[in-house]
Amino acid sequence: MEILGIDIGGSGIKGAPVDTKQGTMVADRYRIPTPHGAKPHDVAEVVGRIAKHFDWKGPIGAGFPAVIQGGVARTAANVDKGWIGTHAEDLLSNATGCPVRVLNDADVAGIGEMRFGAGSGRQGVVFIITIGTGLGTAVFTNGVLVPNTELGHIEMDCQDAEWQAADSARQREGLKWREWAVRFDRYLNRLHDLFWPDLFILGGGASKKMEKFADILTVPTELVPAQLLNEAGIIGAAVAAESLVPDL
Ligand code: BGC
Repeated sequence: MEILGIDIGGSGIKGAPVDTKQGTMVADRYRIPTPHGAKPHDVAEVVGRIAKHFDWKGPIGAGFPAVIQGGVARTAANVDKGWIGTHAEDLLSNATGCPVRVLNDADVAGIGEMRFGAGSGRQGVVFIITIGTGLGTAVFTNGVLVPNTELGHIEMDCQDAEWQAADSARQREGLKWREWAVRFDRYLNRLHDLFWPDLFILGGGASKKMEKFADILTVPTELVPAQLLNEAGIIGAAVAAESLVPDL
């Protein structure tokens, strides 16, 4: 079964057709920079261009950086506030002429990692943390997703944890990897103390640099880098849209 997976991010919107049984992209991914401000109709227009690029006529899955309930965006931490209350699935269906499933971006990356990557076959409580502009979290218990956990926004030192420990904080403050990692480690220890996960999977851009800071981390939880890296969002989004196909 091939489904078009789309990863909507702060800097780029990327898509590729995915074989959801194999967990592989079946064509080169196509990327268009996110329109300035990431307003709903501008983003939808870009998603429409990506579908057109692949001459796509089938189901589409998309990951979006917000809480998504029943296809509706409920938050907008790092995108235009006009998304709040927008029916993202209807908007993107209209833009592409295809049925679309939209889920939170960290949730779809987690779905990809659990099915085909570092979480494959793992039972217990698994946290996927995506480290980018935002801090995204996806929580699985015995392989089942608890959707829309927004644990990047827990309080740390009277501030939003994301503001201190996302990759955007490292860039904004010009921190060395090891300086940033001290903060990120405090964040992981907070999650450990509150949830006692069995496994942390680190995804997003920063996870590719893990060799630069892994020795700083003191959290006692087993911790591994994501395996699908750039592709987790696209592959997971496609897998999440399998439910649009009735006979699968
Ligand atoms: C948002 C989450 C999102 C994460 C990663 C956070 O700021 O609140 O919904 O998953 O960023 O993009």
